[in-house]
Amino acid sequence: MGVSWQKDFEIGVEEIDRQHKVLFEKVNSLLDKYEADKTAEKKNKEQIEDLFFFLTDYFETHFSSEEELQEKIGFSEQKEHQERHKAFIERINEFKYDYLNLAEDEIDDELFLEISNQVLNWMINHIGGEDKKIAKFIKDKQ
Ligand SMILES: [Fe+2]
Ligand SMILES: [Fe+2]
Repeated sequence: MGVSWQKDFEIGVEEIDRQHKVLFEKVNSLLDKYEADKTAEKKNKEQIEDLFFFLTDYFETHFSSEEELQEKIGFSEQKEHQERHKAFIERINEFKYDYLNLAEDEIDDELFLEISNQVLNWMINHIGGEDKKIAKFIKDKQ
């Protein structure tokens, strides 16, 4: 399970690349924690929850940094790109809501897998596709 950060995702701006790496690391440790938990006698919902909430907050931090960069360089697809970020935050907030509606010590396997798959797929497509356009824009400008 999981997909690691790849050199191919690099956009050449240190802060953004570092944040992308953190996003991949965290989503992978979330998946690992979940896997380990499946075999544990008592599910550790709290640790999974902490990681999940860290991840959702970190997305917002990251989007702000990235949008600041786009503003600074005058990125041509700024508006569309920011709409994509916004839509993703909305989706993740829906997930949070669904998650918080679960009972105290319950981990809904289906929900968890749906969330992590969607988050991971989004990251691969967005970072590997949309964010790479920022790298190209910077390169073309030089
Ligand atoms: Fe990004
Ligand atoms: Fe982005």
